[in-house]
Amino acid sequence: MSQIVINGGNTIRGSINLQGAKNAALPILAATVITGGESVIHNCPRLSDVTCAINILRHLGCLVYREGDALVVNSSTVDKDYIPDDLMNDMRSSVLFLGALIGRCGSAKISSPGGCELGPRPIDIHISALKKLGVTLIDNNGVLEFSSDSLQGGDIVLPLPSVGATENALIAASCAKGTTVIKNAAREPEICNLIKYLNAAGAGITFLKCGDISVTGRTQFNNCEITVIPDRIVASTYMACAAVTGGEILLNNLCPEHLISVNEYFAKSGCLIKAYQNSLYLSAPKKLLSTDQVRTHYYPGFPTDSAPMLLSMMIKASGTTVFTENIFQNRYRYTQELKKMGANISVYGKTAIVTGVKNLYGANVFATDLRGGAALAVAGLCAKGRTRINKIGYILRGYEDFCENLKNCGADIKEV
Ligand code: EPU
Repeated sequence: MSQIVINGGNTIRGSINLQGAKNAALPILAATVITGGESVIHNCPRLSDVTCAINILRHLGCLVYREGDALVVNSSTVDKDYIPDDLMNDMRSSVLFLGALIGRCGSAKISSPGGCELGPRPIDIHISALKKLGVTLIDNNGVLEFSSDSLQGGDIVLPLPSVGATENALIAASCAKGTTVIKNAAREPEICNLIKYLNAAGAGITFLKCGDISVTGRTQFNNCEITVIPDRIVASTYMACAAVTGGEILLNNLCPEHLISVNEYFAKSGCLIKAYQNSLYLSAPKKLLSTDQVRTHYYPGFPTDSAPMLLSMMIKASGTTVFTENIFQNRYRYTQELKKMGANISVYGKTAIVTGVKNLYGANVFATDLRGGAALAVAGLCAKGRTRINKIGYILRGYEDFCENLKNCGADIKEV
């Protein structure tokens, strides 16, 4: 199995062109199924999760190929409404094909994607949203069989602004008769990117003043093109890499407005941040400061996916920082690995208390999940000696050219 090996201590200094966002590309790829035509998805990152989505699309009968940075999907030849267990299990986001299959075929058979590294991840909210559109469900010994004679627009009230449930509801409602209103919907930039794609394909989706989303469905869709937004979580990862090494970084091809809550905490830690139209510059102080309490929240709050990287930054900061995780139940498993490197972290339920230490030491550690794995790399860059990160498949799910980008900025890092 591959490892990432880091010899810590080098200063990160340079520029990186940001990849497209995984969490924007995946729902758009799922949504291509409803159009029955050709979709060109520009700036689509080359990631193992994207490969999983391509495998599902090809299984369903789509023609998929790469053209430079774009992925072209032709869904005119979809001929299946089921996704086998092995493809479902490859990634959690396989559940996003549910709304798309219901919309396209009027039926879908999938197994539950189940829980994962971050704690229980049920799909009850996805299911109840689809039921509001007239979908029925039979659980046939673990195979979830969804069907609908005719999708009808309706009022969907989400109990919490689930990103995935909002995406499934948007995709299915785009194929429903009449208008659907999704209340308490998620409003992450990735959701807006999906809406832009669905509208380009012919759906009629608007944000109402109150924040609800109105969706007017269609029976016919157009061929269309979309550009995947830059990955704000990857941006925060590279910012943390520069920050822990006292370095400086220029990130190109990003939307600074997607990073407002993140930038606030980097600034509190003593970093100088300059946001330009499509780029962002960060210069780190010699010694980082602890920040106010970090509470993760839905967008525009502090993103749960950026918290592990900020936590790694705080390990050598002056003082104590308290983190509160409000989205996932079991997000702190990676902190056990950071402790092997000498970090002073105490976890109590959804709270983690990090007190700065003078030095971190390289160790043999294991990625426990995607962002937790990235947090280990951040720590490895500022640790004394060699860090070996195992189970890097998690990291490759979300980061394109991770080692190469950091190496080009001065890191001693390689995949072996
Ligand atoms: N939840 C339920 N029932 C549901 C759906 C969600 O209880 O039916 C709970 C979850 O268990 C979780 C919370 O609601 O505790 C939020 O889940 P949400 O549905 O918002 O998250 P998701 O759609 O599963 C996406 C991202 C995650 C990101 C979260 C939160 C994708 C492919 N994944 O997951 O990204 O952490 O939103 O922003 O978009 C990552 O990229 O590393 C990652 C985990």
